Amino acid sequence: MANFRRIGILSSGGDAPGMNAAIRAATRRALSQGFEVMGILGGYSGLLGAADESDPDVVRQRYLRPLESSSVSNIVTRGGTILYSSRCPEFATPEGMEKALRACDKYQIDAIIAIGGDGTFRGATDLTNHGIPSIGIPATIDNDISATEQTIGFDTALNTALGLFDALRDTAESHARCIVTEVMGNKCGFLSLYLAIATGAISVAIPEVSFDRDYAIRKIRQAREEYGKRGIIAICSEGMPKVNGKNYGEDFKDEIIRETGIDTRFTNLGHTIRGGNPTLRDRLTASQMGVEAVNHLLENKSNLVMCVHENRITSCDINYALTLDHMYKDKLVDGELDRFTGFEIAQMKAHCVARRAKVERLYQMAYNICM
Ligand code: F6P
Repeated sequence: MANFRRIGILSSGGDAPGMNAAIRAATRRALSQGFEVMGILGGYSGLLGAADESDPDVVRQRYLRPLESSSVSNIVTRGGTILYSSRCPEFATPEGMEKALRACDKYQIDAIIAIGGDGTFRGATDLTNHGIPSIGIPATIDNDISATEQTIGFDTALNTALGLFDALRDTAESHARCIVTEVMGNKCGFLSLYLAIATGAISVAIPEVSFDRDYAIRKIRQAREEYGKRGIIAICSEGMPKVNGKNYGEDFKDEIIRETGIDTRFTNLGHTIRGGNPTLRDRLTASQMGVEAVNHLLENKSNLVMCVHENRITSCDINYALTLDHMYKDKLVDGELDRFTGFEIAQMKAHCVARRAKVERLYQMAYNICM
């Protein structure tokens, strides 16, 4: 049994639908086990703000709010996060950590559940190293945490985008236009890739696979000239590099017009796919992860990130997850692998190979079946 009393919960980084479901599940599981729960507002900046604030009303309003069972009523259906979110560069500095620890001490926050992406997990592992046991829950629409097959919010963003693509197709069809559509995802192409397959996009450009623009243009020309296709949708992931200072998708749109003469527009779905009511899958995954995160803390386990592996909820060490991510994204720094055993390194390599193969397979599939 854990030797602490109060668990802090925060969400940080880009919000993702399902964060609320995780907050609700973790809160209610913790309360049911006799713990108190403190909602930390605005991610890590809530901790930093609380450290130096002396007015309890201000603390409660802006930084820290005790959570009861009723505080999380009716939030499972809602996108966004009732705890708010932010990106907090100050937290990564020694002064930031000093403030965070001071806040934990002052408000007797003994452990933290941090919901977000890789930046959030770096914060969580730093806290663990400084004596505040922490657990990460992966929530980002990008699905870019290599250690888990699914991040909370990914499924909802896909389903939200589906509706938007269907609408785009109506207008593309009516005007016999091509629409190049940019989709969020940071440096990760999963959102774009899944959507290309599910919406029948004629081409998809993602950072992980080299994009053959000439081939895509030929396909677009052929669709129009040989098959008489009126509405044509091309997808371009946000993470594609700029071309001569121009957004990749916009530049591709210009090239389509130049090379085919097809009336073409560029549109960016942007943040529209980050909100909205979470899907069943996200609610369920988030709820399971919220409960399991608390269970881990109860068993005195920490510095873990919750994962989905082969449709089961599991967990792995945060440092392992972060390094695996670096390996997958070719961002390993000198000596980073030194702390891991040969077996763990081999496991990470195999994981990266399998993940890359999955992307490659889906990419080929998109090109094979979409027109
Ligand atoms: O990580 C989620 C995400 O929406 C990415 O897809 C995107 O690159 C980024 O956040 C946008 O961040 P912001 O909302 O801070 O502009």
